[in-house]
Amino acid sequence: MVSAAAARLLLLLILSVNLIPITPIVEERPFQAPDGGVKTAVGKSRKRVFPAPHTQEPNPVSEAYGYCNTPNRTEQAWEGHSPADYKLLSVQVMIRHGDRYPLYSIPKTKRPAIDCTLSNSRNPSHPLLSPFISHMGQGSRGHWESPLGSVPRVPNHSSCEMGELTQTGVVQHLRNGQLLHHAYKPHKLLPPVWTPRQVWLETTGKSRTLQSGLAFLYGLMPDFDWTKLTVRHQWNTLFCGSACDCPARNRYLEEEQRREYRLRVADTELERTYADMARTLGLPTRQLRAANPIDSLLCHLCHGLSFPCVPLGDNGSGGCLTLAQFAVIRRQQLDDEADRRRVGLYHKYAILAMYPYLNKTAAKMERVARSNEAGRQPRVGGEEIFTLSSAHDVTVAPLLSALGLEEARFPRFAARVVFELWKSPPVTQVKKKAGKGEKSKAKGGELFIRVLYNGEDVTFHTAFCRSHERHVSQPLCPMKNFLSYVRRDMFSVFNATSYKEACYKPLV
Ligand SMILES: *[C@@H]1O[C@H](CO)[C@@H](O)[C@H](O)[C@H]1NC(C)=O
Ligand SMILES: *[C@@H]1O[C@H](CO)[C@@H](O)[C@H](O)[C@H]1NC(C)=O
Ligand SMILES: *[C@@H]1O[C@H](CO)[C@@H](O)[C@H](O)[C@H]1NC(C)=O
Ligand SMILES: *[C@@H]1O[C@H](CO)[C@@H](O)[C@H](O)[C@H]1NC(C)=O
Ligand SMILES: *[C@@H]1O[C@H](CO)[C@@H](O)[C@H](O)[C@H]1NC(C)=O
Repeated sequence: MVSAAAARLLLLLILSVNLIPITPIVEERPFQAPDGGVKTAVGKSRKRVFPAPHTQEPNPVSEAYGYCNTPNRTEQAWEGHSPADYKLLSVQVMIRHGDRYPLYSIPKTKRPAIDCTLSNSRNPSHPLLSPFISHMGQGSRGHWESPLGSVPRVPNHSSCEMGELTQTGVVQHLRNGQLLHHAYKPHKLLPPVWTPRQVWLETTGKSRTLQSGLAFLYGLMPDFDWTKLTVRHQWNTLFCGSACDCPARNRYLEEEQRREYRLRVADTELERTYADMARTLGLPTRQLRAANPIDSLLCHLCHGLSFPCVPLGDNGSGGCLTLAQFAVIRRQQLDDEADRRRVGLYHKYAILAMYPYLNKTAAKMERVARSNEAGRQPRVGGEEIFTLSSAHDVTVAPLLSALGLEEARFPRFAARVVFELWKSPPVTQVKKKAGKGEKSKAKGGELFIRVLYNGEDVTFHTAFCRSHERHVSQPLCPMKNFLSYVRRDMFSVFNATSYKEACYKPLV
């Protein structure tokens, strides 16, 4: 369940703004490109993840189209890029579900007419769509943590239900999975025969996250073996498992919501716009605001549907909601995001919210690294080579903030955050010792991390690698930076050194 507070935050957050021009990342020479199928854009630094430098006012409507993430063009993906001879050990991914039907409807208007059954003859389609549908038909052979076994594995209502994944959403994730399939194939990330511990999926209990995760996994591993797949349930949208208790986190969230409320009621243009929209529909303003009209209007926009209209009444009501009204609400959301960053309460909330997930991710990567050490007897069943967490914007947005990626755009539909663990080639050190001749000693390779957001390498924008000096002999970010950030440094904003301490301290 998305809690009421989380749902409210979701609203506040459908945003993204741009303020700081980001210097393009210069790709170092020794990078190898993945094989065919993935469009790369060397030399063309096309920034999608970080908004354009602010040469002009952000346009709230074109921002909204970016949020739709319509799957109608080739995407660039920098996943799987590394210096030659580095070995890819593990990949951990968090996604936001794909395009969905609105969660709220606007009173007195017709719901947008969208068909949530899957069909090859409807756009957007994908070559994997039909095989995906038939593979999902065998899903009862998988292992489903309760209550996931009873959630439908494909959307299948000819008139979408509230919050249901659409065909667009399925195609977005088939494409994401397929992009990573091509990116990781040359690195032989996934063994031909994998074990349930090496590859698994975790998801919240919503059908849209479960179905998005399955579509992604199918794109990555077409015709995967159901009997090996375990799908785990995360009841909390923060993916905090058994470590969700954190009183300070809730207090930062409440403070953040008060900040958001004050900013919103001070915005006279916004208030006027809601009043105009409410008059058109013949509703009390309060009722319209509570119906969160931007959510439904975004769906109209993403699906090319005209905004809702109501017939003229004799009390001044009637007419259509307009793009200009939509733009005002979006503009206020962009202002809110800038204010949110400036104030910093959200960042503190985010650190406490995402620590449990980051701690688990770090632990998985360390286990894989240990099992790869020379001379180790690997554990039967292996370690987590690839796990996928299928989540919501209220998960991905705090994850970005906790990583220090404050300037990144608000997570669009089917957004993806990818953590890659790499190992450099072993170096043979030749030591000359007096009297003993030459002795050579093999030293294991070093560990490195890459972080990607929507296909773009953002590693050197993260809090733990922003100030790392890159050089040709060490072009990647050391894993130990990430580990010490997650296990200690992240809590320095609270003047604390651990999660427990920060969670039980008075607010700072
Ligand atoms: C993709 O769709 C968006 C609208 O959702 C549109 O603005 C854009 O022009 C389309 N791009 C292509 C290449 O068709
Ligand atoms: C969708 O529902 C229809 C009618 O209930 C059913 O016949 C069909 O098999 C379902 N399709 C899938 C892919 O589950
Ligand atoms: C105005 O008229 C419309 C349609 O006749 C009706 O639905 C609406 O409730 C009325 N609004 C008010 C404020 O009386
Ligand atoms: C963090 O991860 C370690 C394993 O590396 C685990 O023992 C510990 O309980 C985790 N802490 C929290 C608060 O989740
Ligand atoms: C941080 O904590 C230390 C030790 O508890 C304390 O001495 C110091 O005054 C604190 N600093 C701030 C800024 O709260």
